[in-house]
Amino acid sequence: MKCFHYFKDRSRSRLQKSAPILNNQSKTDTSEAQRVIKSSCSATSPRSIPELYEEKAQNLRVFTFSELKQATNNFSRLLKIGEGGFGSVYKGGIKPVEGKGDPIVVAIKKLNRDGYQGHKQWVAEVHFLGVVEHPNLVKLIGYCAVDGERGIQRLLVYEYMPNKSLEDHLFHKDYPPLSWDSRLQIVLGAAEGLAYLHEELEIQVIYRDFKSSNVLLDDKFKAKLSDFGLAREGPKAGHSHVSTAVVGTYGYAAPDYIETGHLTSKSDVWSFGVVLYEILTGRRSLERDRPKSEQKLLEWVKQYPAESRKFGMIIDSRLENQYSISAARKIAKLADSCLVKSAKDRPRMSKVVETLKQIVVQVAAAESPPMKYADGAEDEENEHPVKGVGASESAKRRMAHLAKISEHIGGVSRRRFMIMHRAKVT
Ligand SMILES: Nc1ncnc2c1ncn2[C@@H]1O[C@H](COP(=O)(O)OP(=O)(O)OP(=O)(O)O)[C@@H](O)[C@H]1O
Ligand SMILES: [Mg+2]
Repeated sequence: MKCFHYFKDRSRSRLQKSAPILNNQSKTDTSEAQRVIKSSCSATSPRSIPELYEEKAQNLRVFTFSELKQATNNFSRLLKIGEGGFGSVYKGGIKPVEGKGDPIVVAIKKLNRDGYQGHKQWVAEVHFLGVVEHPNLVKLIGYCAVDGERGIQRLLVYEYMPNKSLEDHLFHKDYPPLSWDSRLQIVLGAAEGLAYLHEELEIQVIYRDFKSSNVLLDDKFKAKLSDFGLAREGPKAGHSHVSTAVVGTYGYAAPDYIETGHLTSKSDVWSFGVVLYEILTGRRSLERDRPKSEQKLLEWVKQYPAESRKFGMIIDSRLENQYSISAARKIAKLADSCLVKSAKDRPRMSKVVETLKQIVVQVAAAESPPMKYADGAEDEENEHPVKGVGASESAKRRMAHLAKISEHIGGVSRRRFMIMHRAKVT
């Protein structure tokens, strides 16, 4: 899905093609930012992201271009694993820090657009990912920046996520369908990542590009948010929003943000609501090859309200009725609350996390034993146990996992910055 970039300012034209990198960028950003932001763990004046970046140690590695060229066999097409708005993504192997041992498998993203906008996104990604640290955010290992005669080279090196993205599993028929439990776990993990960004840091971070293709999946299908190129710091104290050029992805961006350019954390909450409907229906937020009334997911699902008897008709047929209809209704209601017109009436992400955990625990309780799933009929009375090899085994495994999760219901863990040693950027 394409990002849109609608620029209201003209500052781009004043900027050099090969713009100065992080150090200079930091100065510009820092001067704006003696900010006090509403944040669940802010006590004194929070610092800006570039300031935190300077202070916080992430041990980011600085790679030479030739190291990354070697790591990807000269950016071989055979090692290309994806392509997005920023550029191409390659699988590669880098040497461990100490130089000994097996190569570390990584994903290397290479900017393929020259010019300031790509550079700006690259800087944002290095700054934000250099500062944040959470199990549901992808880890940045390092980067490479070279300004040569033949233009700029900007690369990012991430931990490798072997199970691609939520988008791949939901919409590409080459992958087996994602189970109901996996869908719930993935959206819960993604919600925890967003709640951390909005509410658990010294400053608030608005992600601005939440969508299924940016939810990557690790070897255990745990969700990790990637792509911080569009992320922004939240509003300063006393301000309700940040005024920005409107950027994001069609089908996911909140209408109030598109209309006004006023960005708040509730813009991310809207996008999260869209993805909740994607996991319920197995449909993309925009599908141009469908009949007109079905092209826009949010308009289509409005015809099948969560409490109605026909609600079951929108559920992804690839689930083959292996889902809990009552949980699905609750997810739809949660999605509806994220998608209310008035941004301030949308729930905070910590509330979304709490609701999702309750739904997950209820599903587990209903499954064990006997396992109850929908039969495609309209209401809970028609749910029936599924017979199938391995069902009780997997239910047991899920129960153990869920018991662990439920310990945290009602309280999102408060993660704070830990000062490690400073990552040098040249
Ligand atoms: N860390 C990673 N590990 C493994 N695969 C990755 C990693 N990062 C990205 N990819 C793969 O590359 C694909 C493209 O990612 P990218 O973020 O560049 O584009 P996108 O999310 O599809 O689009 P957009 O540019 O609009 O965000 C992803 O869908 C994923 O399959
Ligand atoms: Mg992406």
